[in-house]
Formats: sequence, C-alpha cells, structure tokens
Amino acid sequence: KPPGPCAMVIFGAGGDLTKRLLVPALYNLAHTGLLPEHFELIGVDMADLDADRWRDSLHAMLESFVGNAASESRIDKIDAATWQHLTGAITYIRGDLNDDGLYERLAQHIERPSPTGGNCLFYLAVADRFFGPVTAHLGKAGLLEEHWDPDGTKPERWRHLVIEKPFGHDRASARELNATILRNAEEHQIYRIDHFLGKETVQNIMALRFANGMFEPIWNRDRIDHVQITVAETVGVESRGRFYEKTGALRDMVPNHVFQLLAMVAMEPPAGFNARAVRSRKSDVFAAMRTVAPECAVRGQYGPAPNGAPGYRQEKDVAPDSGTETYVAMQVAIDNWRWAGVPFYLRTGKRMSRRVTEIAIRFKPAPQAPFEATNVAALPPNWLLLQIQPDEGIALQFEVKRPGPVVDLAAVRMAFKYADWFPKEPNVGYETLIYDVMMGDQTLFNRADMVEETWRVVSAVLEDWEARKPEDFPSYAAGSDGPAEADMLLERSGRAWRPVADTNSALR
Ligand code: BG6
Repeated sequence: KPPGPCAMVIFGAGGDLTKRLLVPALYNLAHTGLLPEHFELIGVDMADLDADRWRDSLHAMLESFVGNAASESRIDKIDAATWQHLTGAITYIRGDLNDDGLYERLAQHIERPSPTGGNCLFYLAVADRFFGPVTAHLGKAGLLEEHWDPDGTKPERWRHLVIEKPFGHDRASARELNATILRNAEEHQIYRIDHFLGKETVQNIMALRFANGMFEPIWNRDRIDHVQITVAETVGVESRGRFYEKTGALRDMVPNHVFQLLAMVAMEPPAGFNARAVRSRKSDVFAAMRTVAPECAVRGQYGPAPNGAPGYRQEKDVAPDSGTETYVAMQVAIDNWRWAGVPFYLRTGKRMSRRVTEIAIRFKPAPQAPFEATNVAALPPNWLLLQIQPDEGIALQFEVKRPGPVVDLAAVRMAFKYADWFPKEPNVGYETLIYDVMMGDQTLFNRADMVEETWRVVSAVLEDWEARKPEDFPSYAAGSDGPAEADMLLERSGRAWRPVADTNSALR
C-alpha cells in the first residue's frame, strides 16, 4: 500500500545521486502505486534553477535511461501520468547549505498548509562534510520537530532524516556526527542508509535463513569451515578521484557494505522482522567482531592493465604517487558461541577481473568417506553460494557419483536463479529504502551504535595504514584478481580464495 502523504526534500537536487538513483527510484515507486497519493518534491541546491528547469533536467536524465539495457532503472518509457504524479507538485529552493536564510525559506514553504500534512523526509544527497551542518540548521529552524498524538504512540506529523554514506571517516568522527544528529533529532527519525540493504538478494539472506528450517541447524561452527565474502568491481574510480583519494577501498566498502553482508550471514535469528529486533541482532554481531589486527589485512592498488588501461595513479584527480588502496582483503573473527574459530574472509576491489558480489559458505568435510581410493581431504568441499550480483540466486555444491561402473565422485551444483522464478521489476535499488523511510520502518537502516562499532572493528588497520605508506603500490594489474599477498591470508590456514573467475559462474 502507498505511504501516507508527505513531501521529500532533496539536498543536492542537481547531484548525481539524485538524478541517477533517487528520482528513478521515485519514478518506479510511482509506477507501481507505492508513492503517496499526495506527494511533493522539493529540491535544494546552489545552482541557479527554478522548479521547471529542475524538473526538465530530471526528465532528461530519466529519458537517457529509457530502453538502455545497461541502466539498472530498466524503464521502457516515461509514462506521462506517472511523471505528473511524481512532479506535479515540485519546488526548487536555491541556497547555500551554510546559510540560515535557506532554512528560513524552506521552513516557510514546508510549514504552509499543504495536502502533505507537513510530513517530510529530508534526504541529504550531499557531500558528507555537510551532514552535520545541514542537520544542525534543520534543527535550529525547527524543521525536525514532530507532532505526536496525545498518547505519544503515533506521529501526527513526522519528520525523517536520511543520511548517506560515508558516515564519518573513523570511530571518533562517526561519534561526533551521531552526537550532532542526536542533539537535533531523535534516533527514531534518523535513517542512516546503506544501499546494499536495498538489494533484494541481500534482504533474501534473512528469508533463506529464517523462513526455512533446514539451514539453521548447520549454520554454525560445528558444520561451517569458513565464509568468503567477495565484492569485486570492474569499474575504476571513474570521476571520483578526489573523493576516493581520501577515502580508499577500506572506508568506501568495508565497514558499511561488506559488514552488512557479513551481519546478514552471522546474526542470530531476530524475534521479529522489525527494526528493534533485526538491528539489535546485527548490532550483537558487530560488537562480537574482533578488532582486526593489521597482519590480518592486505591492501592493494591497481596498476595499468597489460592491454594499456590506466592504473589508479594515472586516473583524474589522483596523485602520481598515491598511497590510497583500491583493494582490501581481511580476515575477521567473530567472538561468540556460533562463530568461535570460523574465519570470515572479506575482499573488495576496483578494476578486478569481473563484477561480482558473492557470499560463499564452505562446509566442513564429511567425517569419513566410505569410498576406496578417496580420502576425505581430497573430496571437493560443499559450498553454499549466495550470489548477490550481477546474477542473482543461490547455488549449492555437493558430491555425486559419476555414472559408470567405477566409483568416481564429481562435484555438481544445484542452482536457483531469481530470474527463472520471478519477473524482473524495474529497480535501481533505492525503491525499498525510500518507501521504508516514508512508512517509518527503520529495519534496513543503521542505528548509531552499529556505525560506531563497525568503525571500531577496522580502526587498528586504518591507523596502521595511515602510519605506513605502502611500498609495493601498484600491486595488482587492472583486470586481475587482486594482489598475491591476499592469498597468504588464507594459505596460512591451508585455505584458498575461490577464484574470482569461478564466482557467479555457479548460476550459469
Ligand atoms: C558505493 C561506493 O557505496 O558502492 C562505490 O562508494 C561502489 O565505490 C558502490 O562502486 C558499489 O555499489 P553497487 O550497488 O554498484 O554494487
């Protein structure tokens, strides 16, 4: 059902995130009947625009996605009625994010009587240095004040604030940002977004684990040997050199996206699918994660490819002697009863051989194999492969007997592909998340304590890397599987990464 009436204020109205993801997601929501009947779109930015020109620029961007198979929006055509629903009530407010006057103008606009009933979602699609200041300004202008019914159980007028990543750049800055936010709003109003949680396949991990009785009994240290999480990208830093130079792969991907995947796999069953239960169980995982020691982490940077594609240091806005990592691998321990002694190996990098996000769960071997000439150690392992993207599905790898008179074993796979069972809906990945903010459901968003804990887990590695400039950069060729040292992380315990080339082929 569609959410109740509301306005959405986008700070950073002319930015990439707004045009490429937020507006297409809103369009898809409108198209599937999940945009509020009474909806107002309010853009805030520095550029000298008005509502009509802003609307035109959004339309032009959306049009460029139409029929474009490469675009994740998968829009066939822009439907006039849907577009009218989305942008029929549209306002553009020009201003400097640090100027009190902007917030006064915004307040005047929002506080006027309107069919949206004063409900308002503020989306900070701006550079992270503005997260604190914009929140403080919104608070000062009274824009974050909610009205509740006399019992205090239901908001009569809600105000929600969506904060993008990066949420701080270490534990201290995340704490400071949380403190600023919580001086101006209450935790129930805050939606710290991690767009990986908008991916269907990520949400499905909970369904796989907790809507089935057959997985949970083996989902622990007794039967699981280790877990590998791979988030490999083929893209480089594109036009984001300036941002990436000070961020690097670890901050950009690990405490947020990769740890969210890990939490989905490692969390205890929540008592309900609600924000309090789900987030508390994830928070337990983060709290149980050991602070990663520098010797359990490997960084890398891509150099030129054999075919001549540029290395990281040749990219725009990147220093020619840059020490920023574009690849990171680490071994993480979770100190609780379920996972004691089960390593989680994580890796993510840019310009790798293929784009794939996969969680691979390796089971312990059979205790004994009653087949002559086969020793248990030689048996290929059992894997459960959760394929997040680009192919979406789940595969299970196990042993069978090869046909024929001789007893010979072979590894085979049983694969479930989303595409075989469900029609593909147009989806850029933000639809669920925006819908949830409008519905007031924080289940898929980070709580203050969660972000602070995840920064704690990577803090020792961050400090070590800042103190020591890497000597061997660039350390892997663009288009390869990352630096060789990453293999050592697993080799020391007799394990090995699944070759990136094998990942995701499980479903083909
Ligand atoms: C972003 C990172 O948060 O996630 C990018 O800043 C990265 O560097 C992107 O490319 C990956 O997201 P997706 O949805 O394309 O896998």
